[in-house]
Amino acid sequence: MKIERPRGTRDFLPDEMEKRREIEKRMRRIAERFGYREIATPTFEHLELFTVKSGEGIVEEMYVFEDKSGRKLALRPELTAPVMRMFANECSVMPRPLRFYYFANCFRYERPQKGRYREFWQFGVELIGSDSHLADAEVVLLAYRILDSLGIDFELQIGHVGILRSLLSPLGDEMASKIMRLIDKGDREGLLDYMEAAGVDGEMRETILAIIDLKGDEGVIDEAKEIMDYDFERLEKLSSILRETEVKFELNLGIARGLDYYTGVVFECYAEGLGAQKQVCGGGSYELSSLFGGPKTPSTGFAIGFDRVCEVCKISPKSERTVVIASFRGLEGHAFRIADKLRAEGVRTVVDVMERSLKKQMSFASEVNADYTVIIGPEEVEKGLVAVKNMKTQEQILLTEKEAIRFLAG
Ligand code: HAM
Repeated sequence: MKIERPRGTRDFLPDEMEKRREIEKRMRRIAERFGYREIATPTFEHLELFTVKSGEGIVEEMYVFEDKSGRKLALRPELTAPVMRMFANECSVMPRPLRFYYFANCFRYERPQKGRYREFWQFGVELIGSDSHLADAEVVLLAYRILDSLGIDFELQIGHVGILRSLLSPLGDEMASKIMRLIDKGDREGLLDYMEAAGVDGEMRETILAIIDLKGDEGVIDEAKEIMDYDFERLEKLSSILRETEVKFELNLGIARGLDYYTGVVFECYAEGLGAQKQVCGGGSYELSSLFGGPKTPSTGFAIGFDRVCEVCKISPKSERTVVIASFRGLEGHAFRIADKLRAEGVRTVVDVMERSLKKQMSFASEVNADYTVIIGPEEVEKGLVAVKNMKTQEQILLTEKEAIRFLAG
């Protein structure tokens, strides 16, 4: 019986896993350099955690199930809500601000396509407890530094959902969040149709379109000031800090984000080479703690779509030296002993477990691209020697066991 893996999920073979781990390692290193520490939360949570504030889009896409006691649970579609639940429950006495990062799988029942999966990984951070533009600046800078360090060609765009929310507030919550969702999807036609059908007046429609079309450098803020009355200081202060750090970005007042919990600055990064699913990072400031029984706590964070980044990232992990031990029949004990010593010295060492002939062990060593093969034959063993063959140059030397270990570990 052949069983396929579920739609929208993937298997990762060793070459790919090595690349993924290398990318993950680099992300962790940068986040840790900024003072962030890793946390982990459960793979599934009570359904309400996500229905309270994440927004209809996410709720529709969730993997929901009932456990044997009839509890309604959901596989996490993201980690911001879980992290804030954890914060509200366990972190009340920790000094502010808190800097957390995570690397975890998420689940969304979306239509699979290139860059969009039903199980995918996020590398994210949450900076908890600051209401300052400096917190926004740090988080944006961290996302930028991570993507930049991976040699990815990407664009960073920064907006502010408070602007859109204040503009839409006369329309009421329901209409405002529907409009935000259409803006987030980039569905202009749908947006126009909806606003017309919902009876949004012509002037309002034009103002909304004019704001969401504003994209570019800080001149955009002056243009926005002409269109609406709003305090743009937050975006101005953030822009000025980021300019000092040489982060390249554009302002885009049309960023609405697909999740409902954002309150202020929001940002997204888009990479070339991914087609429609080009958003490799999304984040912004939000308040969720008070919804989960904690104190009102302004926070800001982002999540990088790890799989999308892996798709466009060209780095290849440094391959470690591999040694194969090939032995004559009856000398397997020697092979195991030398292999064990080499591993203790940190050398990746592989022994035969197929009881193959020496010739076949040698071909296997070439097939797996071993750097060296240690050949253990009866004559050599008698003299206390082993042959070490360089698989690239085909050169072979005879060494004592000790010398061979020193040579291969060097
Ligand atoms: P999000 O924009 O929903 O934000 O997801 C973050 C990133 O995850 C996206 O930019 C995208 O790269 C990746 N992603 C989303 N869905 C999929 C999928 N089906 N397949 C592959 N990659 C996907 C959040 O989840 C927020 N929690 C981010 C955040 C953290 N905001 C504040 N703190």
